[in-house]
Amino acid sequence: MRLVLVGPPGAGKGTQAEFIAAHLAVPKISTGDIFRANVSQGTPLGVEARRYMDAGQLVPDEVTINMVRERLAEPDAADGFLLDGFPRTVPQANALDKLLADLGTALDLVMELVVDDDEVIRRLSGRRTCRGCGKIWHVEFDPTSREGICDRCGGQLFQRDDDKAETIAKRLEEYAEKTAPLVDYYGAQNKLVGIDATGPVEDVTVRAIDALRSYG
Ligand code: AP5
Ligand code: ZN
Repeated sequence: MRLVLVGPPGAGKGTQAEFIAAHLAVPKISTGDIFRANVSQGTPLGVEARRYMDAGQLVPDEVTINMVRERLAEPDAADGFLLDGFPRTVPQANALDKLLADLGTALDLVMELVVDDDEVIRRLSGRRTCRGCGKIWHVEFDPTSREGICDRCGGQLFQRDDDKAETIAKRLEEYAEKTAPLVDYYGAQNKLVGIDATGPVEDVTVRAIDALRSYG
């Protein structure tokens, strides 16, 4: 299956992507994760992306589309994938449609995780990520047994630079202006399914898997 997860920052895309990708046995491709890996390795792509990420802005389409094109050309994505955080603008969605059409294929489904801004702010301000394995935690909603240490791998947890209050506000603005139009874009293609992303993580996963099942 070729699936896209869309939703505001903090909707739980990364959290759910891990379960859904495992369920579908497809690779999870997160543009945010790829940018962050480049930032921490100090690559030219990372240096460029960081300027935008730290300001809560989207990285320019051309840079992002080229990066995704390369990633989708890897063999593990040939039979399916879950895209987390891409596309995020109408030009990115157009480019993805074209890229897949050139490969003789198309997206199957776009899942929108629906949550309001207050919940997003609660989730992002308490988010912690493991430096070792990348697992996403939350100080209140999904705490580890030892503060600052990952229960899965023993790695150190860190807070993302873009999870500061003023950057969160900018990211929400960017979402409303540039990404929310994708709901209509994919609605018009009859590919959109929206799920309620509030409540416990496990409940959201069950709703997501049910939505996939009813799709086929
Ligand atoms: P990216 O990493 O994609 O960030 P985002 O879309 O803002 O999404 P987040 O990762 O913040 O949130 P999420 O929805 O994955 O939530 P999570 O599961 O972590 O992008 C970062 C930056 O990179 C962008 O700002 C941009 O600069 C750049 N970028 C990336 N892609 C781009 C693109 N295509 N084009 C241009 N630029 C791009 O959950 C959040 C917290 O809530 C966690 O602590 C989690 O434990 C908790 N939580 C999750 N679910 C629940 C629940 N059900 N109940 C309670 N808590 C929950
Ligand atoms: Zn870990």
